[in-house]
Amino acid sequence: MTEANVLEALKNVTYPGFTKDIVTFGFIKNVLINGTTIGLTLDITSSADEVKAQLREESTVELKKIGFEQININITAPQAPKQMSNSVSGKNIAPHVKNFVMVSSGKGGVGKSTTSVNIAIAMAMQGKKVGLLDADIYGPNIPRMMGVDGQKPEIQGNKVQPLKAYGVEIMSMGSLMEEGQSLIWRGSMIMKAIEQFLRDILWSELDVLVIDMPPGTGDAQLTLAQSVPVTAGITVTTPQEVSLDDSRRSLDMFQKLHIPTAGIIENMSGFICPSCDEESDIFGMGTTVPVAKEYDTNVIARIPIEPAIRVGGDTGMPVTYHKPDSETAKRFQEAASNLLAFIDKVNAEGGADNSAVQPTTPPGVSACSTGAGAAPAKEHNHSGGGCGCN
Ligand SMILES: Nc1ncnc2c1ncn2[C@@H]1O[C@H](COP(=O)(O)OP(=O)(O)OP(=O)(O)O)[C@@H](O)[C@H]1O
Ligand SMILES: [Mg+2]
Repeated sequence: MTEANVLEALKNVTYPGFTKDIVTFGFIKNVLINGTTIGLTLDITSSADEVKAQLREESTVELKKIGFEQININITAPQAPKQMSNSVSGKNIAPHVKNFVMVSSGKGGVGKSTTSVNIAIAMAMQGKKVGLLDADIYGPNIPRMMGVDGQKPEIQGNKVQPLKAYGVEIMSMGSLMEEGQSLIWRGSMIMKAIEQFLRDILWSELDVLVIDMPPGTGDAQLTLAQSVPVTAGITVTTPQEVSLDDSRRSLDMFQKLHIPTAGIIENMSGFICPSCDEESDIFGMGTTVPVAKEYDTNVIARIPIEPAIRVGGDTGMPVTYHKPDSETAKRFQEAASNLLAFIDKVNAEGGADNSAVQPTTPPGVSACSTGAGAAPAKEHNHSGGGCGCN
């Protein structure tokens, strides 16, 4: 009997409440086999006794089926329950959104907005309730890419109704400003804007809110991490070495902000010729794998350069929806599936917890609240004493 047989057998045990099994979740550790005796560790973070008992029982049944007689399952002592930011701390200012995904990059123009749009649509096509927030207040491109530029959102009292396209709820500074208008942002204003996007937009009960960030690692990223528990971070990069250096900064930021890293999207990776469908190498391909390893994460998709992607972006007709049979649409769908599996894993292990970067605020009062009791203002205070937006 080998470890492979054991893992195969344990694939029949699903984690309670999920469709995925305990092997896929990566919970099986330290398998030791000696004849018909087996010892293994189930490394789960759930503190619920019923979950532990159920997993122990089902795993024992599966292992007996393949011939083991002596079965020792060690379930690792769960950590103390993590403080969730939507508990009493007021750290989740948008509690009706189940999961937040931050799409980031070290440098501009690598395909963050393209990725955000196509992944959001792919998840909606897979049956999820999805929102897309364009947090790039400097260069909001989402309205054009989603085909809603020029549309003005409906105002209800002091809240704003999101726009909707391709089954996705959308909000962007570009939909709130006059076309071509530019705004000059101070640090404190960025924080206020991000906070209002989360609190004052009438998002539905969303499974996932995809957030397209401005390039780099600045105030917008910090404010987001301080306002809501970010379930997953995605770094978008192109394959050239110069771009990879910048993507390391983005991955480093996720670690510092305690954002679980879903992985890297290697964009503009190879070229698919529109006339012959052949894929050829332009900027390099596969260069992101070692970077992913460095940061203990994965490459969740390689998206080739395809003229249809650019045309889809410019005309507001994203490939994932309008060319679902194209190679790139398939890869965005795959990236979306990988992301959803990652989100399940984070939640099964206790959920996102970036409370270490949260500013200290009284219960129910958000860091950037204009109401009484907000943290004392100090601009660019990154030390956790208040985000300084007042
Ligand atoms: N794989 C691809 N194939 C072809 N064109 C692409 C691809 N990815 C992105 N593009 C095009 O490249 C341009 C830049 O992409 P995008 O706007 O998504 O980048 P970004 O990282 O969001 O940029 P910024 O940092 O300015 O926000 C867009 O015109 C987009 O249509
Ligand atoms: Mg962009």
